[in-house]
Amino acid sequence: MKVAVYPGSFDPFTYGHLDILKRATCLFDHIIIGVLENPSKSCLFSPGERVEMIGEVIKDWEENIRVIHFNGLLVDFCKKVGACAIIRGLRAVSDYEYEMQMFSVNSQLSKDVETVFLMSSPRYSFLSSSIAREIAQYGGNINSLVPENVKEMLIEKFPQAGD
Ligand code: PNS
Repeated sequence: MKVAVYPGSFDPFTYGHLDILKRATCLFDHIIIGVLENPSKSCLFSPGERVEMIGEVIKDWEENIRVIHFNGLLVDFCKKVGACAIIRGLRAVSDYEYEMQMFSVNSQLSKDVETVFLMSSPRYSFLSSSIAREIAQYGGNINSLVPENVKEMLIEKFPQAGD
């Protein structure tokens, strides 16, 4: 069985993430969404909240997707869950340098884990978690940016977020 990890901060999970996730399910038997718990990075949502929001998004899907939070090295997490691949989405040239660096580090740390890049669908190429947070914070409309339950969680943090 081919297992892949789709890792990220997902602060919050957006329609861009959902697009990559859906497309990755066509390539692997099982996808584990790995939510990074990073105490050195200040996130809007706690790891528990991020796992909960993604769990709600994927709740009606087949049994082949799970969401777990992790800390430490990504390649160690991949080994622990038996994954042979890491899925990353690429939006624009600006993502390339960071992704290349992560790919190089991960491939040096482990020869057993491949990185698979999926290009974002053009309609989501501008979308990031930080854009969604910022638009919510300033009261903009986030309907087309994040799933409904994520929108509700953003509105709890930013009651001014428009709808
Ligand atoms: O959504 P993000 O914040 O771009 O995801 C980054 C993530 C979680 C994939 C990356 O920070 C990560 O893998 N962190 C775990 C620590 C690690 O393995 N570092 C070495 C590779 S750079």
